[in-house]
Amino acid sequence: MGQGKSFKVDKLELAIFHTEDGYFATSNICSHEYEHLSDGWLEGSLIECPRHGSQFDLKTGEALTLPATDPIEVFELKIEGDDIVVSIPEDYLTSGVRKES
Ligand code: FES
Repeated sequence: MGQGKSFKVDKLELAIFHTEDGYFATSNICSHEYEHLSDGWLEGSLIECPRHGSQFDLKTGEALTLPATDPIEVFELKIEGDDIVVSIPEDYLTSGVRKES
């Protein structure tokens, strides 16, 4: 169990997940196609994409099941009092996470 919430930070689409294993910050966009992972299903520290069902490890970003093969971006996160602080490299803020190939 757990839940995900989406945020827009400049051009970055960010997801924060709260699971029994803690909080995780990742790109909110699946690495397979454009889909919001925050709408997916959480199981432990795994998120399952709501469109085609690929699972990603929220700790590493690794794609664990097909059809996705590329990882999702994972961002460093820490809890400071009541705040969740996410470290986002400048590149992501100006260009977003997904790059067209
Ligand atoms: S869009 Fe996420 S697995 Fe296809």
